[in-house]
Amino acid sequence: MTRKIVSTGRGGTGKSTFVALMSRYLSPPSLLIDLDPDLSLADMLGIDLTKVGKRTIVEALYDAVKERQRGGSPLTPVEDRFKGFMWGDCLYEGRGFDVITLGTKDMEGCYCFPDHLLRKTISELSKNYKHVVIDSPAGLEHLNRNIVSQIDDLFVVLDPSDKSLIHIKKVKAILKEVGMMYDHFYLLANYMFDEEAEKYFKEAGEIYLGKIEYDPKVEEYNLKGEPLNKLPEDSPACRSVRKILEKAGLI
Ligand SMILES: Nc1ncnc2c1ncn2[C@@H]1O[C@H](COP(=O)(O)OP(=O)(O)OP(=O)(O)O)[C@@H](O)[C@H]1O
Ligand SMILES: [Mg+2]
Repeated sequence: MTRKIVSTGRGGTGKSTFVALMSRYLSPPSLLIDLDPDLSLADMLGIDLTKVGKRTIVEALYDAVKERQRGGSPLTPVEDRFKGFMWGDCLYEGRGFDVITLGTKDMEGCYCFPDHLLRKTISELSKNYKHVVIDSPAGLEHLNRNIVSQIDDLFVVLDPSDKSLIHIKKVKAILKEVGMMYDHFYLLANYMFDEEAEKYFKEAGEIYLGKIEYDPKVEEYNLKGEPLNKLPEDSPACRSVRKILEKAGLI
C-alpha cells in the first residue's frame, strides 16, 4: 500500500526542507510532489528540472490546450494529450525518488482543471510508489484543492508563534470542510523553537513528534544551492528528521 504523506504549515517554517530531508530516509521508491509555485523542492534536492528537460504540470497542460486549439485531432481530448506529455515530460525519475511539480498558474481561470488532472494523475501514479510525499505551498489554499482525498500522515511544521496555534485549528477546520480524511495528524516544531515553546505546543492536544533541529549547514546549503541530500549523516537536522520518521512509523 502507498503511504500518502503531506507536509504543510505557515510560510517559511521549513516544510520543503523537511520533505527534502525525509526523502533520504524513506524506503524507495518514493514520489515527491511539489505544489509550491516557487519549485524550491527540486532545487533543494540538487535537481535542475529545466536542464533535464522536465516541465511542470501546468506547462504541460498549457501545451496540451494550445495543441488542441491549433486543431489537433478532435478525437484526442486535452486530458489524453496531457497524459501523453505527463509521463515523458513532467515526471523526473531519480535514484530512490521521483519528482513532479505543479508549477505556476499561467492560464486563464482557476486551478480547477490542473488540480483535477493532478488528482487523477496522482492516483494513477501513486500505485507505483511506496510513499507519495506532498510539499505544500505556504497557506491553506492547497488543502481546499483536495489534491489527495486520503492522507496517511499529515505533518504540520510549526514556528514558535501563537499564529501557529490558529493555523492548527484552521487546518483541521478545512480538512473537515472539504471532507479530506487523514489517519495521523502530527505537529512538528521547526528549528526556531526553544524548550518553552516546545512545552507549550506539546500541550496543544495533538500528537507532537518533536523538533527539527537547527543546523547551520542547512542554511548554508540552501543559500548556496547545494543539495540537502549531501548533508552529512550526523547533521542535527537529519538526525532529528530521522527520529521523527521513526516515531511516525515511516522508517
Ligand atoms: N533545520 C533548519 N536549520 C536551519 N535553517 C533551516 C532549517 N530548516 C529550514 N531552514 C531555513 O529556513 C528557510 C525556510 O525553509 P523552507 O524553504 O524549507 O521553508 P518552507 O516552509 O518550505 O517555505 P515556503 O513557505 O516558502 O515554502 C530556509 O532558508 C532554510 O534554509
Ligand atoms: Mg517550501
